[in-house]
Amino acid sequence: MNTDSNRKEIVLSGIRSTGNLHLGNYYGALRKFVKIQDDFDCRFFIADLHALTTNPDPQELHANVKKILAEYLAAGIDPEKATIFIQSDVPEIAEMYLLLNMHVGIGELMRTTSFKDKARKALGLTAASDDDDEIEKQICGVETNRRVNAGLLTYPTLMAVDILIQKATKVPVGKDQLQHLELTRRFARRFNSFYNVDDFPEPYDFDFGGAPVKVPGLDGSGKMGKSEGNCIYLVDEPKALRKKVMRAVTDEGPQAPNSPMNEPVANLFSLLELTSTPEIVKQFRDAYADCSIRYGDLKKQLAEDILAVTTPIRERVNDILADEDYLRRVVAQGAEKARDAASKTLADVRRIMGIRKF
Ligand code: TRP
Repeated sequence: MNTDSNRKEIVLSGIRSTGNLHLGNYYGALRKFVKIQDDFDCRFFIADLHALTTNPDPQELHANVKKILAEYLAAGIDPEKATIFIQSDVPEIAEMYLLLNMHVGIGELMRTTSFKDKARKALGLTAASDDDDEIEKQICGVETNRRVNAGLLTYPTLMAVDILIQKATKVPVGKDQLQHLELTRRFARRFNSFYNVDDFPEPYDFDFGGAPVKVPGLDGSGKMGKSEGNCIYLVDEPKALRKKVMRAVTDEGPQAPNSPMNEPVANLFSLLELTSTPEIVKQFRDAYADCSIRYGDLKKQLAEDILAVTTPIRERVNDILADEDYLRRVVAQGAEKARDAASKTLADVRRIMGIRKF
């Protein structure tokens, strides 16, 4: 298997350790990762250094890393097939981050959408599309005691290093991360051409084919997301999960046969389509069409179907979390493999940039 992996294309993806994984993470990422782990040289990591950009509580940071690790394993990522590692276990990443920053413009980082969003949040500004001047004024101003830390600005450099140090060419990411991937390609080209080398391949989003999976939240609009507070977590206990689903936003019900569906109800159907059988989905669609639907029944069904997906995962998470030795072994093995690749790249980068030993 190891000789094989030399020829397989390298896939890398990371997730920030900022809380439990939800159904959106599961259908949008995890489940797909499990499917590709045989065919690619997959490297999945927990981006705890990226999580530091929002200054988490130290106790929570470590607990979150552990939780996500257990959730990855419980969802079926196999440490014998894929490399699973913690970002901070690879100190080469931190060093190369410093080196790559010498080729990254402050301007291009400041224009990144995710930076502007996070800076706005850190400054307590309300979202407005064209308040760039205001953000810049406040960042540079001395009056405010709110701070936009430099780590937030250089977030894309760190992400580019995660990718480039592993020489990954396929990077499965959500839509919100595509701009970071674009920057990574730009940095790779820039490095290659500045030093006249061809060290870094340009990474692209992993194309899983088919339509993107839509995993909406329970609050009536938009996708499921940690910061939206509309999530169903893989480790939600049955009672809490049922309660969340029963409280999901709906409407007053179809007023005439074959009425169009409002977003909150369409969202529940989207979730049902992910977790239930086609027969059950059809049964509720028909009931909607002829106005006999009772949202309470729909929600009860949905909660049970979601639980059928999450219960085995939740139980495995609990078993895995109880087995510290196993977790330590997985992490050590992953770190070794990740460092193996990273140290080679870093050695080349140091040499190319002119850092030599006496
Ligand atoms: N920035 C990504 C996110 O918030 C996480 C991430 C960090 C990542 N480094 C990466 C994803 C490298 C893919 C590759 O979702």
